[in-house]
Amino acid sequence: MDKLTISQPDDWHLHVRTGSILRTVIDHSARQFGRAVIMPNLKPPVTTVEQALNYRQEILDALPLGSAFQPLMTLYLTANTPVAEIKKVADAEHVYAFKLYPAGATTNSDAGVADIEAAYPLFAAMEKYDVPLLIHGEVTDAEYDIFDREKIFIDSKLSRLTRQFPTLRIVVEHLTTQEAVQFVESTGDNVAATITPQHLLYNRNAILAGGIHPHYYCLPILKREHHRQALLKAASSGNPKFFLGTDSAPHLTALKENSCGCAGCYSAHAALELYAEAFEQVGALDKLEGFASFYGADFYGLPRNTSSVTLEKQAWRVPDVYADTDVAITPLRAGEQLQWRVVSA
Ligand code: DOR
Ligand code: ZN
Repeated sequence: MDKLTISQPDDWHLHVRTGSILRTVIDHSARQFGRAVIMPNLKPPVTTVEQALNYRQEILDALPLGSAFQPLMTLYLTANTPVAEIKKVADAEHVYAFKLYPAGATTNSDAGVADIEAAYPLFAAMEKYDVPLLIHGEVTDAEYDIFDREKIFIDSKLSRLTRQFPTLRIVVEHLTTQEAVQFVESTGDNVAATITPQHLLYNRNAILAGGIHPHYYCLPILKREHHRQALLKAASSGNPKFFLGTDSAPHLTALKENSCGCAGCYSAHAALELYAEAFEQVGALDKLEGFASFYGADFYGLPRNTSSVTLEKQAWRVPDVYADTDVAITPLRAGEQLQWRVVSA
């Protein structure tokens, strides 16, 4: 197959930041995707509906003229989130979910939730008002090995949470392990998951073998090959619990190539192309459309997009850097060839 037309996809997990980074990256997502769930981990975090609506306006203002791209906003859950804010989200037109960052788990997560059990009244309200909870599923204590943090979170936090709130809609974000796949498969239809392109295409050797490669460092960190295989199988299985969420997370090149480099892979420049490459690896290009364009919308209760995008086998070289006056961002696969290209959207 060297040409593939699918319904326009959506990105159910995206970081676009603000200011000049936002203006540098937003067009990459808007060119491919109809909608994207926008992460709220700004500095300071987006914790109220009002802040989310202001942030939405900043994103809309940064879009190229005539773009129909829709940012779907989320709020950052903190220990101080009032229960009343959950009802507000349920009633708000452009805000769709809460994001739970365990405190200290990743970039700008300091304001996150340290004691998940203490937030149970908030989850009860989300269940009651049917507001989805998006979860960064990693424990954070220094005693835990970084490669085990997702599995331990599932065993010690998430399984209890899903039992306690059996109808709460949950998206376990950016799955990285076979255990996480099994967990999602074994829970009810109210629990789904996103999978990133980097976790489908790479294992931990990409970060650590032959030198340190900071542009492959993200959280949760890439795992062993058998986990990647489990993720590929889940994504290409046609199971609607698994859908596209790039977790594209732009950081300045200087802050990635640093003695304490930031976590996050920038993938929005070639998101669909990278997923196509992964699905092709397992002979499952016919399953890409469900994963990229249908299941996320269905889970969020939103209409599927009616337009389409076409990918062609057409080699192109990813730029070394995407730069603007005060911004330089190194994309995933910088300077390398990709085989697929979105030719019309
Ligand atoms: O690698 C990551 N980068 N993981 C996250 O959870 C956050 C993200 C970011 O915001 O940079
Ligand atoms: Zn993220």
